Amino acid sequence: MFGSSTSSIPEVRPVPRHIAIIMDGNGRWAKKRFLPRVAGHKKGLSTVREVVAGCQELGVEYLTLFAFSTENWRRPPDEVSFLMDLFLNALENEVEKLHSNDIRLKVIGDRSRFAPRIVERIDAAEARTAANGGLVLTIAADYGGRWDMLQAVNQMIGEGATAITEEALAGRLSMAYAPEPDLFIRTGGEQRISNFLLWQLAYSELYFTDLLWPDFDKRALGDAVQSYRCRERRFGRTSEQLPASLRRD
Ligand code: IPE
Ligand code: IPE
Ligand code: MG
Repeated sequence: MFGSSTSSIPEVRPVPRHIAIIMDGNGRWAKKRFLPRVAGHKKGLSTVREVVAGCQELGVEYLTLFAFSTENWRRPPDEVSFLMDLFLNALENEVEKLHSNDIRLKVIGDRSRFAPRIVERIDAAEARTAANGGLVLTIAADYGGRWDMLQAVNQMIGEGATAITEEALAGRLSMAYAPEPDLFIRTGGEQRISNFLLWQLAYSELYFTDLLWPDFDKRALGDAVQSYRCRERRFGRTSEQLPASLRRD
């Protein structure tokens, strides 16, 4: 388990160890081209491949991608089922490539609303890549930060907890296997968290870009990391308290 940014001060490195991304703007990308929204989702999958490769090249250890939120069930049924099919196809077609690249795939979220064949594929993909030692790629699907915190609390209630500590709760979140994100990226121009990793983003550096997800690429990823490098991560301290190498003045 990893230390939490509010109970101990994390080590700051030039390359973010964990990047979490809200991949937004697929629908607008398609609309601009007079295409159906789902064409944007399809194109978005190729951006995922590129960003995964970019993270491997940069030496990022954890990449977490928000693919479908608990609120996305509110979308038109046709779009929801297209997204489910796209996810299923990706699980069928991409996992061997991930495996040969030494990537460990994890899927977080409430699986109860997924079709059984999707759940089976998720389990198979996680098992297939479980022993890999390279990039840990997490797909957040039917994920919501509030759902995650509540399922952690409910686990503790089930275990008979009478008081809840920060460590105990953090250790029961669905991504307890990863350190908190150093860098959060949202494409598509909106500046909001949309119920993503509410607990873990406490001290993440936030980066928003107007680029639509299908237009995001390795270069744009490099720009985000460059912006990250220029940030002074104080975790509550004053600038003067930081080691000289971490000061940005
Ligand atoms: C993000 O793109 C993908 C998902 C939420 C699944 P959107 O579909 O939200 O694209 P916009 O925001 O409508 O452009
Ligand atoms: C957030 O995007 C969720 C994902 C990218 C999966 P949305 O497009 O659903 O976010 P809101 O509803 O505009 O905040
Ligand atoms: Mg959107």
